[in-house]
This record gives sequence, structure tokens and C-alpha cells, in this order.
Amino acid sequence: MAETTLPTARSVTALREQVRAWRAQGLSVGLVPTMGALHDGHLSLVRLALSRCDRAVATIFVNPRQFGPREDFAAYPRSEAEDAAKLATVGAHLLFAPPPGEMYPPGHATTVAVGGTLTQGLCAPLRPGHFEGVATIVCKLLLQSLPDRAWFGEKDWQQLQVIRRMALDLDVPVAIEGAPTVREPDGLAMSSRNAYLGAAERRIAGRLPAILRDAAGRLAAGAAAAPVLAEARQALLAAGFTSVDYVALCDGATLQALPATAPGARLFAAAHLGRTRLIDNIAATG
Ligand code: PAF
Repeated sequence: MAETTLPTARSVTALREQVRAWRAQGLSVGLVPTMGALHDGHLSLVRLALSRCDRAVATIFVNPRQFGPREDFAAYPRSEAEDAAKLATVGAHLLFAPPPGEMYPPGHATTVAVGGTLTQGLCAPLRPGHFEGVATIVCKLLLQSLPDRAWFGEKDWQQLQVIRRMALDLDVPVAIEGAPTVREPDGLAMSSRNAYLGAAERRIAGRLPAILRDAAGRLAAGAAAAPVLAEARQALLAAGFTSVDYVALCDGATLQALPATAPGARLFAAAHLGRTRLIDNIAATG
């Protein structure tokens, strides 16, 4: 098979020149922001972008500002050459992979912070500064490339809502698109962090979506949230999870906690397996 290579922009200027050239030809542009270590979930976002836009740009930038001081920034998997090959195979047109100094030049001092209910619960209190880091980098990527549409996975549901709010509130002229979570055969949501799991941990990880599905079924049948959430937490610990950050039933749009299922309700969980933190969410409506 012929080797496919992907044009790569390292500077905002080069990215803008390419997008401007496409626009001059009347072509629409889709953006898929990532931190690399690409899996089939990311590639599904590129395929969606290609199905709706004439050109697809993927970005790879491991954003230091969205990692806490005790989080895995240094260990985060980096595999740009393999990622570029995967992106070329699915038909992406451009990779934007800037060095840190291009995104945060000396003197950079502006942060985008989304307030309100979206950043009060779930991961927000456990990862201080995380969503500011995400909103800031995504705002920059959207303004740097000015695509027609940008895609984000629903696995990071809270992130997706924060990004939608940021784009709406700041009048960023880009349609924010969510895409369904892509799962392994045992149901585990695909994530670059799954690479941290040892074989025994990987088997336990597959219990997370199963426990969520079971709880969501009971909630959808009308059970009150409190006992179902407490039992799901116990089931995760019994399955071998080291600790559970939360199991929560929330409105999918406001992310406010619900006492029982309601239209738009979602079930969210975050749990640790050794040094790996996994998150997942599913619909929990009747
Ligand atoms: O979901 C991710 O990979 C990142 O949070 C994102 C959206 C690329 C911002 O760095």
C-alpha cells in the first residue's frame, strides 16, 4: 500500500494560510481538536467531520494548562508519527501540531473560565483549573482555525457542555458538534488513558459501563437516585476499582443533580484504577 503522508502545520500562520486557501475555493472546514494518542473514537470524529465538511483539520496539542500539578501531563502518551499516519488513512487533510510556545508564548495571560452550573459539579471540583484550561485552549484553536464546525466526543460530556457554553457566550462563529462515545467490545469507553491499564486493571475497567448500564436501567424504571447511585458506587469498589470520585445522576444540559430520572437525564461516573482515572456517562431516561 502506498505510504500516505499528512501535511502538518506547526504555526498559527501556516494553519490560517491553509484554511484561507480552502475558503477561497469555497470549501467548508471541520476541526477535530485532540491531545493525540489517537484511537478509534478520535478517528470517528474525523470521519464525521469529513461527512459534513469538504476539509478536515485535526489538531494535536497536549495542553499543559488542563492538567493539575499532580496529574499525568508528563506521562500522557505522545505518538505524533503514528497519529499522523492514522489521520492520513481516514482522509484528514491537515494536522495542526504546534509546539507549546506557539500556543502559550511568553507573556500569555488570558484565561477563559466558564461559570454557572456546568463547572460546579462532577469533575470540576476534583480537577481545579481543568475546565479553564480546556475552554482557553479550545477557544484559541477555534479562533486560530475558524472552521465551520468542530467535533468533540460525548465521553467527555461535561467538557462538551463547557465548550458549547464558551462558544455561545463568546460568539465564536463555529458550530460545536457532539459525537457518540466509541466503545471497546466489552463496553469500555475508548480513551487515550486506557493505555495506562495493566491486564488485570483492563478487565476490571470493563465493569464500569456494565455497572452504569445496570443503574441506568433501574433509574429509567423509576427508582430514586440516592440508593441506586450508592449501590453503583459499592459495585465499582467490589469490582476492584481503587476509589470512586462520583456516581451522579444529572440533567444532561445543566449538569445539575436530579433526585430521579427526567427527560435528558444522564448518569455520570469517575473512578480510579490504580493510577488511572476513568470517566464515563450514559443516558438514563425512561
Ligand atoms: O478532549 C481532549 O482531548 C481535550 O480536552 C481537548 C478538547 C483537545 C482540549 O485540549
